[in-house]
Amino acid sequence: MLVTLEGIDGSGKTTVWEALRDARCDGYTFTHEPTDSWYGEAVRRSEAEVNADPLAELFLFTADHADHLSRVVEPALARGDVVISDRYSDSRFAYQGVALDGVVDRPMEYVRGIHQPWTRPPDVTLFFDVDPETGAARAGATNKFEQVEFLSRVRENYEQLAEYEPERFVRIDATQSPEAVLADAEDVLDRVLAAE
Ligand code: TYD
Repeated sequence: MLVTLEGIDGSGKTTVWEALRDARCDGYTFTHEPTDSWYGEAVRRSEAEVNADPLAELFLFTADHADHLSRVVEPALARGDVVISDRYSDSRFAYQGVALDGVVDRPMEYVRGIHQPWTRPPDVTLFFDVDPETGAARAGATNKFEQVEFLSRVRENYEQLAEYEPERFVRIDATQSPEAVLADAEDVLDRVLAAE
């Protein structure tokens, strides 16, 4: 089973991912995108670059995803592990879906289209939902993706993705206290694992 954590910057999903990782060991693989591979490093260099070409950036993120899939996610699933990834393909659909506005037609559909033939879609996605003002304030607006205007459009893309696949997306109210957000995430995870 592949579970992904998604949301705008400052939604608190990484804090939840860390707490889950500390509490669950055997039979779980905890991972994230961007990864720590050299592909992931290239992505982070691009992220820090205000004028990076958005199409080049899409393909860096996507290369990192392809490597992540074959090197980490697929072997872990083949072992029978529950894989929990902090960000995954929906991050590309939501973020590059905004970043590529004006570069290609229907950017989110374009990005979904280039993944569709080869990716492994998540079974469940925990969507940590927070308003963009709170998200940007929590994230500290330290990179180009962490601005309110940008994040509000990213959030709209997540909403659209959740509408496409309501059975996969489980919304978590990420405006709550960190303890309450974690408790909700634990509940959802226990429920989906029990139903497996
Ligand atoms: P994030 O998970 O926030 O990493 P960290 O907090 O450890 O730096 O991801 C970094 C940024 O990259 C974040 O603003 C979201 C963005 N991003 C994309 O634009 N597309 C993607 O495909 C991924 C995985 C992340």
